[in-house]
Amino acid sequence: MDQALAVAPPAAPPGTARILLAADGLNVSFPVGPGHRLVAVEDVSFTLGEGETLGIVGESGCGKSTVAKCLAGLLRPGSGTVSLQGVALPARRSHQQHRAVQLVFQGPYSSLNPRLSVRSVLRELLLFHGLARGDAVEGRCRELMALVGLPEGALDGYPSSFSGGQRQRIAIARALAVEPKVLVADEPISALDVSVQAAILDLFADLRDRLAIGTVLISHNLAAVRHVCDRAAVMYLGRIVEIGRKDEIFADPRHPYTRALLAAAPRLRPGPDRVRARLKGEPPSMTERPTGCPFHPRCPRAEAVCGAQLPELLPAPGGSSRLAACHFRDEKT
Ligand SMILES: Nc1ncnc2c1ncn2[C@@H]1O[C@H](COP(=O)(O)OP(=O)(O)O)[C@@H](O)[C@H]1O
Ligand code: SF4
Ligand SMILES: [Mg+2]
Repeated sequence: MDQALAVAPPAAPPGTARILLAADGLNVSFPVGPGHRLVAVEDVSFTLGEGETLGIVGESGCGKSTVAKCLAGLLRPGSGTVSLQGVALPARRSHQQHRAVQLVFQGPYSSLNPRLSVRSVLRELLLFHGLARGDAVEGRCRELMALVGLPEGALDGYPSSFSGGQRQRIAIARALAVEPKVLVADEPISALDVSVQAAILDLFADLRDRLAIGTVLISHNLAAVRHVCDRAAVMYLGRIVEIGRKDEIFADPRHPYTRALLAAAPRLRPGPDRVRARLKGEPPSMTERPTGCPFHPRCPRAEAVCGAQLPELLPAPGGSSRLAACHFRDEKT
């Protein structure tokens, strides 16, 4: 019996699920000219429970895709580990470990080979990984189409014959073909027409409910995360500034940056310009990070301590499971 496609019981309530994936103290920097490094990701830690969807949000350039690549094993962090079911993944992952964490990219067109039919792509994967044989291959291909909401006839199509939304479904089917434990979806709707964005988000919610997999859904769009995630992490300049259950974060944000994002994103697809309108100035350059709290040059709440002391990611008071990196995280709005 195919484990990944077996219909699983509904996901456990957020926070109670067993830990499937964990990022622990990830740091990534890139060399940018002699003697200079750009810190893309700094001290990023989080967990993902079984059957859980974690959203990662933040403005463009804050390090989301770099985190995604570390999770999927495409980029080795300078320090820190990614663990799957309690086992730290080595720098060189085995085939099985690669299969376990699958990345779904933003632009499904560029990641699909235009010369191969959907059936050929899926068959190749299934045979290469020894996941199906003989007649079972066709059955599995059909099963995958059903899972992503496409008709069986789509198996005969080539990438150019599909719409953007359909191509994203095919990209998801391809990721699911190798029976992953975790899907990492990096901006899965941002290249799509607004009319199909919600349907693709609903597909992720459906997969979470039907399969025993966890999902990390990365988006610059807070409304997308609100639509589908159980928990959310907010990133700013390479760091997580707030993380917790979605209802806590959206109803009672404790970090001024989260508040600004929320104020700018009342519905799907607000666009980054509206975020800027609510905040002073642009995000600082990643190569010249502010001292103290990285958000202090733009923060409406900043005080002298903020420029001097980096706030740690600590529990917000009130018994919530949420963490916030702000000296004034106990203040309610
Ligand atoms: N290979 C690279 N070399 C140099 N800088 C990079 C590289 N990849 C990403 N960066 C930089 O790291 C920062 C984070 O990038 P990224 O993770 O793509 O952010 P996001 O996905 O949130 O937009 C950005 O400043 C980006 O320019
Ligand atoms: S620590 Fe200070 S600058 Fe940073 S978010 Fe909190 S109030 Fe703003
Ligand atoms: Mg990105």
